[in-house]
Amino acid sequence: MKISVLLEREPFEKIFEKTLALFLEDHLNKPHIVSWRSKKIVSRDIKFSQKWLCNPLINSIFVKGSNQNIFNSINGEYATNPMKPWRSRFQRFYLNLSQNKITSSILSKYRIIISPPLKDPKSKLIIGGNNKIRLIDLAENRVYVILKNGFDKKYIDKELYVRENFKYLDIPKIYNKGNNAIWYSEEYIKGISPNRISSDSDNNSLNKVIMGIHKMLVDNKVSQPLSEYLSELKQRVLSGLKDINYLKFEDKLYVTEVSKKILNELDKYSSNIITTSYCHGDFHQGNILCEGDKNWILDWENSGQKQIGYDLIILLLESRIVNGFYMRFSKLLNNQFNSFQMNIINNWPELNWKNKEFKKMSLLLFLIEEIDFHITGNTNPLFFNNSNKIIERFNEIKKCFESINLLET
Ligand SMILES: Nc1ncnc2c1ncn2[C@@H]1O[C@H](COP(=O)(O)OP(=O)(O)O)[C@@H](O)[C@H]1O
Ligand SMILES: [Mg+2]
Repeated sequence: MKISVLLEREPFEKIFEKTLALFLEDHLNKPHIVSWRSKKIVSRDIKFSQKWLCNPLINSIFVKGSNQNIFNSINGEYATNPMKPWRSRFQRFYLNLSQNKITSSILSKYRIIISPPLKDPKSKLIIGGNNKIRLIDLAENRVYVILKNGFDKKYIDKELYVRENFKYLDIPKIYNKGNNAIWYSEEYIKGISPNRISSDSDNNSLNKVIMGIHKMLVDNKVSQPLSEYLSELKQRVLSGLKDINYLKFEDKLYVTEVSKKILNELDKYSSNIITTSYCHGDFHQGNILCEGDKNWILDWENSGQKQIGYDLIILLLESRIVNGFYMRFSKLLNNQFNSFQMNIINNWPELNWKNKEFKKMSLLLFLIEEIDFHITGNTNPLFFNNSNKIIERFNEIKKCFESINLLET
């Protein structure tokens, strides 16, 4: 999630100041002051300290004249837009100007003052994220991953859990952990996501990554009655909803109504036995990096026990992009796949989509799992806004639900 979006959702300025100061104190054994400012700062403010530039649109915080290679992962993410290729040329032009020694100051919107100054700042880049910030250090070839102040520790714990328990998976290696348990450092990966590589090798990379995911799914699978799994989900959704302070009363009613309709429909299957397993939880191509024949899977903060097809559905639906969610869901429902997708579906463990009842049940269940994802991800009391985004999501989810019900079985 970009800093421009984070600033609309939460007091990111304050969160950033506290997070970075706590990290620097723990990591460097010395108190640091981090101060987020508007562009207008007077030069006495920066005596004995260091001025960083923040450009929220490219999700970057860096110093003027920094080593251009620090932007490689940002550029890999934003320079091409697989959904809207016509935008790519303009994006590349903007990225260039926003990172250039001369124009970066003009295009950046905020200043961050750090005192005492950090060593070797030109090889460092700080990027924003949903629950964590990252400090990429090219000179050390590592990335510091830091939990945002006021965010749930589970997001760090899950990253550590998967590395400890699934050693066969290709996940960036951890170098060291902080004393205060809010950060760790991991290897810096140079790769780019498979959907941003324009060749057949992207499918090969994806296939290899999927094989690792299959092993995790098969090793950790559990059979349980749907009713058992559903009761936990239901509990989380309904209590989570109460905790979203900024959501208007009528919006809460709407969200509850959509959720209850799906849950009622699922009750028809409550005695079915389903297979759940430990899933990645956000398995879209943006969370995969490839370089040559090596691949890494990133971003395990949403991992956990879910229906065994969860990661497949996320991959096919690109469900984190709200725009066009319903259209993509319809394609899935009506089996409009290319041969590559067909192949992945046929090889996924414990999946029986040829049976229409099974498919209907797993898609209904997925909608509730999605609701859970969006509700529990928004219960942080620091958030002051995201209302429109949630409602937009629920409009799409509601349309998906209605289309499942039209499905003949
Ligand atoms: N170890 C790493 N080395 C290089 N780049 C990384 C590394 N980890 C993450 N990134 C970059 O940072 C982006 C965001 O990281 P991610 O863990 O997916 O967090 P989130 O999507 O929650 O913000 C990734 O898409 C990738 O471009
Ligand atoms: Mg990610």
